[in-house]
Amino acid sequence: MTDRIIPIYLPPRTTLPPARDLAALPEGELVDRRNRRVRDLRISVTDRCNFRCVYCMPKEVFGDDYAFLPRKQLLSFEEILRVARIFVDEGVEKIRITGGEPLLRKYIENLIEQLAKLPVEITLTTNGSLLRKKAQALKDAGLHRVTVSLDGIDDAVFKRMNDVDYAVGDVLDGIAAASAVGLAPIKINCVVKRGSNDDQILPLARHFRNSGHILRFIEYMDVGASNGWRMDEVLPSAEVVARIHEEFALEAIDPNYHGEVAERWRYVDGAGEIGVISSVTQAFCSSCTRIRLSTEGQLYTCLFAQSGHDLRALLRKGAGDEALRREIAAVWQSRDDRYSEIRTAATALPAAKKIEMSYIGG
Ligand code: GTP
Ligand code: 5AD
Ligand code: SF4
Ligand code: SF4
Repeated sequence: MTDRIIPIYLPPRTTLPPARDLAALPEGELVDRRNRRVRDLRISVTDRCNFRCVYCMPKEVFGDDYAFLPRKQLLSFEEILRVARIFVDEGVEKIRITGGEPLLRKYIENLIEQLAKLPVEITLTTNGSLLRKKAQALKDAGLHRVTVSLDGIDDAVFKRMNDVDYAVGDVLDGIAAASAVGLAPIKINCVVKRGSNDDQILPLARHFRNSGHILRFIEYMDVGASNGWRMDEVLPSAEVVARIHEEFALEAIDPNYHGEVAERWRYVDGAGEIGVISSVTQAFCSSCTRIRLSTEGQLYTCLFAQSGHDLRALLRKGAGDEALRREIAAVWQSRDDRYSEIRTAATALPAAKKIEMSYIGG
């Protein structure tokens, strides 16, 4: 216990630096209708996953008979690379490989090896189950760092969350392997679902203090159509911070970069830092610089977009780089998304219109 004041309110997002003024942008810089630049490209390389996390791919929906995308509908590595190169020319500075579970995509290290030649940071989000086996190959291919999803440290809770009886020890081994080969700093992402795994907040904090890894807690979102999301199952980040602060004093620290989704807090005793991602209670659309390329080559300008833009059709029609560049620029320039900012019970999209996170990428 500590005598420090428990931080009930997080620093308001409005204290972040404002989005750059349109007039101040260098000529030719790509901005959307809300003056946001494109910085972060997320590429989903498979819609499959070996986990069935209750908040993402519940078993009742993603059962044995679920129709995943057939192979020929997936973008090839060559197609992904072409798109990635153009995005980098347009200002992207970070590429995140996601899924589904990206390490299930065959020869993923070959794609990473090619992407790593681009002058951008290459990161990957994984459930960690194949990390022990793949960490060295990923590092050798040029991957810079990994983010590992981990929704509990207690084996029984973790198994309940992944719903395929996957043991937490194997993921911890994967994290250790990634750390040993230098895929650092490693971020550990925990989606908190009130009543399911919120009892893991403190045990996770205790486990990762002094580890050098950055533990982050994510508010459970109403993404997709299958998780049966309810607001009363969202545990606000402010409560996460308050619970940890009660045991280990925390203080807020500045973001690493404009538009960082996680708010950073450090342990006052020097044991490292944690992050909270408040997608529901403190939306961060005003600084959203992310774009997502789905497994089959649809471009989505928001996690909650109701439709994508079909780049695969263009690629397979033989479009040249300039035509692709024009299409990408037009998609970004017409972007006006801010779903999380305007979401209320009344404005939330009906389930029928939502795209699954396992398809669009985390
Ligand atoms: P780094 O700073 O590069 O480590 O990554 P990041 O902070 O962008 O975080 P990451 O990609 O690990 O995203 C973490 C989680 O935040 C995702 O799994 C989502 O749950 C949530 N998130 C990320 N981007 C968005 C977004 O654009 N909109 C919303 N609503 N949630 C997002
Ligand atoms: N709410 C918040 N984050 C989610 N993810 C998947 N589904 C959800 C959801 N409903 C994110 C998690 C996971 C990553 C792959 O996708 O961060 O770690
Ligand atoms: Fe798989 Fe990640 Fe979704 Fe869990 S959150 S089902 S590990 S894609
Ligand atoms: Fe960006 Fe859409 Fe997420 Fe808002 S809801 S931060 S616009 S992806």
